[in-house]
Amino acid sequence: MSKSSVLTLKGFSKSFGGVEALNDVSLSVEKGELVALRGASGAGKSTLLFMIAGLLAPDAGVVKVAGIDPYQLNGSGRTRFRSEEIGMVFQDARLISYLDVRANILAAGGDPERADELIELLGLASRRSHVPKKLSAGEQQRVGLARALVANPKLVLADEPTGNLDEENTDLVISGLRKFTSEGGAALVVTHDSRVIEKADRVLTLEEGRLRS
Ligand SMILES: Nc1ncnc2c1ncn2[C@@H]1O[C@H](COP(=O)(O)OP(=O)(O)OP(=O)(O)O)[C@@H](O)[C@H]1O
Ligand SMILES: [Mg+2]
Repeated sequence: MSKSSVLTLKGFSKSFGGVEALNDVSLSVEKGELVALRGASGAGKSTLLFMIAGLLAPDAGVVKVAGIDPYQLNGSGRTRFRSEEIGMVFQDARLISYLDVRANILAAGGDPERADELIELLGLASRRSHVPKKLSAGEQQRVGLARALVANPKLVLADEPTGNLDEENTDLVISGLRKFTSEGGAALVVTHDSRVIEKADRVLTLEEGRLRS
């Protein structure tokens, strides 16, 4: 593990009811890096992100984010770990239906100025007072990214953040992620999108729970 690793995984394995989802996965992501993770459906990509985020304990192996092993923390420590160190982007944006764009972003913590900066950066200025059901899928996904970035996490974990987006929206999401990494963040992005893969520093592939680079 180099000094600048934001994320390190060693020997990560997980089975569900005797069926292996991940087998001995090790990887690291450095400060400033955007790493793409691809693999067929069922390869274990989402499982890996949940395990890194402290939401699903591995059967074997160790994860560290900014030097912290979430599974060494108690419940409230792990909740704090998730809000302070990690920003998660879900494929379905998972916004809060009764809050408008700005309030959804602020619900993840962070200061209002930072929220407004992200609203501008991600092209959401004219939508800031809209509730999620008044937004397009692409707008919702950009709000999801803003929410992941607003509290200045060390690591962003994104699960197909450009799924079903047109090229323009995809490029906005990519530039938001690249700005985050250029300012010292690290990102692990599950994607099949060639535009995202092109802009990644490295591409990793999961095949039936094993990593191939
Ligand atoms: N909670 C669970 N209980 C049982 N099996 C699970 C659970 N979560 C995931 N799995 C299994 O683990 C394997 C990996 O699932 P995962 O969701 O990580 O795949 P994925 O690579 O994200 O696929 P997709 O591209 O379709 O999202 C699959 O075989 C899945 O059925
Ligand atoms: Mg998945």
